Amino acid sequence: AYTAAPFVPDGAGLAALREAAAGCRGCPLHRDATQTVFGAGKTGARVMLVGEQPGDQEDRQGRPFVGPAGKLLDRALAEAGIDPGEAYVTNAVKHFKFTRAEPRKRRIHKAPTLREMTACGPWLAAELALVEPELIVVLGATAGKALLGSSFRVTQVRGTVLEEEIHGRPERLVPTVHPSAVLRAEDREGAYQGLVSDLRVAARALG
Ligand code: URA
Repeated sequence: AYTAAPFVPDGAGLAALREAAAGCRGCPLHRDATQTVFGAGKTGARVMLVGEQPGDQEDRQGRPFVGPAGKLLDRALAEAGIDPGEAYVTNAVKHFKFTRAEPRKRRIHKAPTLREMTACGPWLAAELALVEPELIVVLGATAGKALLGSSFRVTQVRGTVLEEEIHGRPERLVPTVHPSAVLRAEDREGAYQGLVSDLRVAARALG
């Protein structure tokens, strides 16, 4: 089975983890991606945001949520009363997965498979163990399935506080929609307000 486990160093801090993740060959996604996009933020951040996988911009720049979805997310966080600079942001999968309609054409995001999400899990487990956030914000269905299992349905649990064991640790989680889904929504303003309202639940849970 694909797994990142042999690439994750024991007893490493975030900087050493990030360095090790740059050389991860735990699944085939490293082949086509530009680089590993590891999480960003400090140990001890009170909230950890988990997205799906880096997008086109993130793949080029090497940092999570720096493209259009990230800009929207930062705005929504600030509006909900969560300082985006104080959050730890990461993804369930750390390499960009994409297809091209034609050679040299625009890269189109492709959802990671369950095998790829499972393979990448040891990185997220290591991040959780080091950051020890008080709350995890789950961004969208893919991150939800990666963390909570394949029966996860974002529409059923968004904006609620869940208590679940994640990678062997008791965690509190607030699921919401993915910011990219807001950008694609027909009623973009309504979808944005829904995201902000879920993030307010997270802000209240943080106290
Ligand atoms: N979408 C994600 O899920 N993660 C990113 O880092 C950027 C876009």
